[in-house]
Amino acid sequence: MKENILEFGELSLSQKEEAVELFLDGFGKFMTFSKDEKVKKQLFMEIFDSKLFLCYLEGDKVLGLMGLGTNKVRPINFKKDVCIKYFGKFKGTIISRQMNASFQKAVVKGEKELYLDTLVTHPSYRSKGIGTILVNKACSLKDYDSIIVEVFSKNKKAIKFYENNEFVISKKHKFSFMRLLGSGYPIKMTKNIKH
Ligand SMILES: CC(C)(COP(=O)(O)OP(=O)(O)OC[C@H]1O[C@@H](n2cnc3c(N)ncnc32)[C@H](O)[C@@H]1OP(=O)(O)O)[C@@H](O)C(=O)NCCC(=O)NCCS
Repeated sequence: MKENILEFGELSLSQKEEAVELFLDGFGKFMTFSKDEKVKKQLFMEIFDSKLFLCYLEGDKVLGLMGLGTNKVRPINFKKDVCIKYFGKFKGTIISRQMNASFQKAVVKGEKELYLDTLVTHPSYRSKGIGTILVNKACSLKDYDSIIVEVFSKNKKAIKFYENNEFVISKKHKFSFMRLLGSGYPIKMTKNIKH
């Protein structure tokens, strides 16, 4: 079957929906601002950056998704006007401000650092090398000399996955308030890229 990595903006409408579903499958538990799955799906369809999300496809099916950030841009922007459209002026403004405090925060400082904002593969197609293909794609981007990712300490599978892909633990944020989300504390992992 033909394998392909495309930017989010290059996908058809139904493929974009599949990509957003993958994202919500992996990270939906952190999107506590609404319980309405349909509305959340519509929102993310509009706020995913068209270029900063790379999608792995086999045939027509989206099986993996990777969001990339730099010291200037990050791939998910809870734009105020879009949040207001779905949640009304008051709640929409709060959601935009609160979510962007994390999602638009500068997470890397250097020009040559790439931040792996989101990586998720289709639950039925894990352990088949798709996550590794996407990480290798990020490593092949010539403008960067290191890749940084943050993983929650309870996500043992992901930590092992990144270690297998030559990431090393560079910092443990043991006292982060993110612990309240129930997934442990954030661990920063770094991989140096040799081009
Ligand atoms: C972490 C995650 C992205 C890994 O994706 P994946 O597609 O399963 O990754 P890979 O298949 O490349 O590697 C996973 C495992 O499969 C093994 N593997 C890779 N190719 C394989 C193949 N062809 N046949 C059998 N096994 C294979 C790897 O050795 C690796 O083993 P490990 O789990 O013992 O470390 C995926 O589990 C996921 O989406 N998790 C939910 C979201 C998440 O936690 N993301 C990370 C935080 S940002």
